[in-house]
Amino acid sequence: MSKRVAPPLAGYHRAVAWYREWFGEDYLELYAHRDAGEARAHVDFVEEAFRGTEPRAVLDLASGGGRHTRELRRRGYRALGSDLSLTLLAQGADLPRVAADMRDLPFADGTFDWLLNFFTSFGYFESERENFQVLEEVARVLTPGGRLLIDLFNSKQVIATLKPRDRQESDGQIVEIRRWYDAQTRRINKRICLERQGEPTRTYLESVRAYDREEVVDGLERAGLEITTIFGDFQGGPSDGDSERLIFVGRKP
Ligand SMILES: C[S@@+](CC[C@H](N)C(=O)[O-])C[C@H]1O[C@@H](n2cnc3c(N)ncnc32)[C@H](O)[C@@H]1O
Repeated sequence: MSKRVAPPLAGYHRAVAWYREWFGEDYLELYAHRDAGEARAHVDFVEEAFRGTEPRAVLDLASGGGRHTRELRRRGYRALGSDLSLTLLAQGADLPRVAADMRDLPFADGTFDWLLNFFTSFGYFESERENFQVLEEVARVLTPGGRLLIDLFNSKQVIATLKPRDRQESDGQIVEIRRWYDAQTRRINKRICLERQGEPTRTYLESVRAYDREEVVDGLERAGLEITTIFGDFQGGPSDGDSERLIFVGRKP
C-alpha cells in the first residue's frame, strides 16, 4: 500500500477554486479601503499614460465591484466591466457589466481600444497555461494599436516583506491572516479566517502565482503585445526591486 502524503496546502484543498469562494461579501468588507478615491488616482494615471488616444470602448477586466468602471464612465468613457464574481458584479448594478471568466472572454476580436486590469487580478490559476491564456485573451479583444495596463504586485517586494501573521479585530469580528510563500509552486498564499461569536468561522484562501517582471513581459510578448513602460507605482515611479507595484503599460501592434 502506498504511503499517504499530506498535500502541500493540507487543510486548504477544496473542491472549488479559491477565487470562486473568496471574492464575495467578506472580500468587499476587508478591502473596503480599495475605494473610489484610489480608483480616481488610477484613472488619472491611465489618462496620462495613454495621452493622445481616444478610446471608443474600454474594458475593465476583473472589475470587481466596478470602482474603475464607474470612474471611467463618470469621465465620459464607454467603459464596461467584466468579472467572474456575481456578488462583486452586483455592487455595480447600474454599470454595464458582464459575467465572464478572464480565460475565455465573450467578446469579439478587436472590441476594445483600452484594456485595464487593476489590483493583482492575474496569476490566479494553477497552470501556467491558464494564466498566460488570459494574456492571449487580452491581445485578442484589443484593437490593433489598442492600449493595455496590467497592475500587479511586485512579487519580489511582497516576498521580501511578507508578514506571516496578522490579527485585527473590529465590530466584534476577529480577522486572522496567515501568509506564506511556497517556493515549490512559486505562489504567495494567504489564509484568511473570520470569526464572530455565535457564527461559524469562515476561512478563505488567496493564492497568487509570484511571477517576476521578466516572466510577465515574456508572456505579454508571446501573446503579441508590446510593453512600452513598466512603472513601480501609481505616482509614475520606476519599477525596481523595492517598488510596490509592477504596472505594465503597452499596446497591441
Ligand atoms: C483583487 S480583485 C480586483 C478587483 C478590481 N479590479 C479592483 O481593483 O477593485 C480580483 C478580481 O478578479 C476577479 N476574478 C477572479 N477570478 C476570475 C476569473 N477567473 N475570471 C474573471 N475574473 C475573476 C474577482 O472576482 C475579483 O473581482
